[in-house]
Amino acid sequence: MTEKQTWSDRFETALNPAIAIFNASIGFDIQLIEYDLTGSIAHAKMLAKTAIISDAEAELLVSGLEQIRQEYRQGKFNPGVEAEDVHFAVEKRLTEIVGDVGKKLHTARSRNDQVGTDIRLYLKAEIEQTQEQIKAFQSALLAQAEQHVETLIPGYTHLQRAQPLSLAHHLLAYFQMAQRDWERLADVYKRTNVSPLGCGALAGTTFPIDRAYSAKLLEFDRPYENSLDGVSDRDFAIEFLCAASLIMVHLSRLSEEMILWASQEFNFITLKDSCATGSSIMPQKKNPDIPELVRGKTGRVFGHLQALLVIMKGLPLAYNKDLQEDKEGIFDSVKTVKSCLSAMTILLNEGIEFRTARLNAAVAEDFSNATDVADYLAAKQVPFREAYNLVGKVVKTSLAAGKLLKDLSLEEWQQIHPAFEADIYQAIAPERVVSARNSYGGTGFERVRQAIAVAKSQLNS
Ligand code: ARG
Repeated sequence: MTEKQTWSDRFETALNPAIAIFNASIGFDIQLIEYDLTGSIAHAKMLAKTAIISDAEAELLVSGLEQIRQEYRQGKFNPGVEAEDVHFAVEKRLTEIVGDVGKKLHTARSRNDQVGTDIRLYLKAEIEQTQEQIKAFQSALLAQAEQHVETLIPGYTHLQRAQPLSLAHHLLAYFQMAQRDWERLADVYKRTNVSPLGCGALAGTTFPIDRAYSAKLLEFDRPYENSLDGVSDRDFAIEFLCAASLIMVHLSRLSEEMILWASQEFNFITLKDSCATGSSIMPQKKNPDIPELVRGKTGRVFGHLQALLVIMKGLPLAYNKDLQEDKEGIFDSVKTVKSCLSAMTILLNEGIEFRTARLNAAVAEDFSNATDVADYLAAKQVPFREAYNLVGKVVKTSLAAGKLLKDLSLEEWQQIHPAFEADIYQAIAPERVVSARNSYGGTGFERVRQAIAVAKSQLNS
């Protein structure tokens, strides 16, 4: 072997250069370097605490590792493919800096428990950052909701006008979805927060190591109970990708709605110039690129989840090189989710304006108050199913006559059923239709005000 000295004397010839490139992960796992250094520092301190190396040796190792951190931050540490991966790159540089003692760092450790430690440290930090971004997204939803408690919006089922809603209620639905996303990440964090360091290659080690100590230095909750499980478990990564996929589902649904709302057909929102793009050929156009990109990027996160599930399903214990394939999907998912959360937060904060006059008018032009007519009769002891059928007939004749329910005269109402009185007109006015739905979790304005207060306390807890 020429450049590469890491393999033992068992090997006589160097790796085929194309295979060296194929085998290398340095191109992407360099992203883990800060965690790799932090993990190695904890390992070195543990080796000293257990007298496996001397305190002086540990100090040298730590100072060398910190120097590599500085070099990396200053852009001076750029290992190439000859290093294979970040772990070898660091060990090699460390030995250049501190001399032979650098070769002691890997005592009682393997790259298998090392890479597992790195990826968990990385994900812990990224989970926390993603949670912060979810909070910012929730704040943006809440700020819009507070402005639009009494703005009405058609509510749909099957994309058919169903019942009118408070716009705030609609936005708070997304707030609650994001709340679950936040909680799900908190739950994933618990199972990410376990240290595989000291599991060795697969079986533990002959050295008297202190795994609880290195786990504590790295702020892990505890060490893995079983060394085989510790080096081969990627459940936490799959769980993270599930949580990330659900975040993307939620962002994508909101995106789809925004794209519809911005169309001329709906015309519920105006896109502001700072968050919309033009067409290269059609000068009249203003395109909702942000929500379209978010909707489009959703697929890649689902793909990474699927890929990792498939990577894991046939793996015998313990470490197999297949596991190197976990990283790019995780990195890309983290980047995608964070950038989408941030873009949607900006869009909500400054990129859209709800067209309140148009929204309020929209709900007055349809039959989305039909349930309220049936409820009106049911409240007067007409059995609901009978009332439902009656109102169905009224809708049919009104449609034929080109009328809305509010256009029927009192005589016409009373011909339909004698229980109708003059208060039917109030009962079917859109504001009333919304405000009357004051059941727990409903869209009534009073309920929505309470829901805003609840959302605020969720955000601050
Ligand atoms: N680059 C490897 C990975 O990402 C590090 C662990 C290598 N371990 C081994 N036994 N080859 O998984």
